Amino acid sequence: MKTLVMIDDDSFFLEQYTDYFKSLYKVYTASDSGRGMALVKKYKPDVVLLDIRLKGDNEGLDTLREIKQTFPEIICIMVTNLDSHSIYMEALNRGADDFFIKSDNVDILQEKITCLLESHKRLPAAQTPFVAVSDKTRKLFKLAATASRSVSNVVIYGETGTGKEVVARFIHENSNRSDKPFVAVNCAAIQDGLFESAFFGHEKGSFTGAIKQHKGFLEEAHGGTLFLDELEDLSPRGQGALLRVIQEKTFERVGSTTSLTADVRFIVALKTDLRQLVDQGRFREDLYYRLAVFTLQTPPLRERREDILPLIRFYLKELNAGNKQLSKSSENIVLSYAWKGNLRELRNVIERAAHMAPGSMIHPQHLSLNASDGFSESYKEARERHLQEFREKYYSEALLRNNGNVSKTAEEIGVSRQTLQNFLAGLKSSK
Ligand SMILES: Nc1ncnc2c1ncn2[C@@H]1O[C@H](COP(=O)(O)OP(=O)(O)OP(=O)(O)O)[C@@H](O)[C@H]1O
Ligand SMILES: [Mg+2]
Repeated sequence: MKTLVMIDDDSFFLEQYTDYFKSLYKVYTASDSGRGMALVKKYKPDVVLLDIRLKGDNEGLDTLREIKQTFPEIICIMVTNLDSHSIYMEALNRGADDFFIKSDNVDILQEKITCLLESHKRLPAAQTPFVAVSDKTRKLFKLAATASRSVSNVVIYGETGTGKEVVARFIHENSNRSDKPFVAVNCAAIQDGLFESAFFGHEKGSFTGAIKQHKGFLEEAHGGTLFLDELEDLSPRGQGALLRVIQEKTFERVGSTTSLTADVRFIVALKTDLRQLVDQGRFREDLYYRLAVFTLQTPPLRERREDILPLIRFYLKELNAGNKQLSKSSENIVLSYAWKGNLRELRNVIERAAHMAPGSMIHPQHLSLNASDGFSESYKEARERHLQEFREKYYSEALLRNNGNVSKTAEEIGVSRQTLQNFLAGLKSSK
């Protein structure tokens, strides 16, 4: 039986819904966020129903963030009396999976839960863990989750070390191919003359050096996912062969006439925009259209600074150094440093620092980073970034206080209604 935790200060609601759900789930309830969090930690429920307005303020949103940071896999459905779009957006931005208005029929809520559990069911417990705290990263993994439910091919762009392979594995592990192999191939490492043999395999004696039968990547990945990394290095000959496989879904081993079925899903990764390569004549357009159904972009660390400290905690735990932490000045350094190698570089620095620091505190000298070398943002850029973050937070909080009423909010914070509206429109289009 699945487990459901309800956190709400409305005892009538808790009683009524416990009655409804108790035959379907193991139900635990709490009337405040502290007790609610304790239940979540203890029972690691499948679903949490969370009131936005605990104790009259918006504590529910903070609780949501706390749950999602520690247990991103728990389904969180926000429950509220208010039918307010701005709150809905805010909750979604903080990782809510769905939204339910208390005045609606509880059957609708049950349907939402079933549907979310259904799409989560394919996730085996042993997932490649990852961190997604910043808006950009959360959006990336949300889109990746959508992609995983489909059968289409996927293109992932991103600078070096930004997690392209992590995303590819995430998609595979969440797909209905998760119990079949995930095979990662680096296109740059394949010698052009050996492309067919590498992909399709070969029969014994089919060419000099083919001393025994060999299965290619397509056979190895049969039923699963073939991840083609550094796709920009796939030769024209390789591109042609790949297109044929995708179109015809069949291939032959080198030296054989027997047709084999190609049952693989392709996820490809590259550093440059594939469309750009097509425009430059370096990549086949017909192949591009067959690959780029879902297009995802892994953002560099400089565009997801909110992930940095959670990533560090994640890496320290992974390195069995969960008792260590960064001093305040170390935190400031890692937050402003220009991470050219992105997450991989960050991980290496933290690994070294964990070894170097004798005690539990990691100080700047253990980081072996020169903050002035890595300082990437100008004063103006940093100021604008902080201001923007401040505005978003301040305006959203004011909107929540005023139940999403734009006029009232504008009056309270002393800006014109139009200014606030423009700001909200900008926010929506950038999400
Ligand atoms: N969301 C994430 N949370 C935690 N760790 C991550 C995340 N994304 C990437 N990493 C870690 O960062 C490192 C680089 O990730 P990955 O190999 O997927 O990047 P990549 O984009 O494929 O790099 P490259 O361009 O060099 O092939 C790995 O150690 C990986 O575990
Ligand atoms: Mg990679």
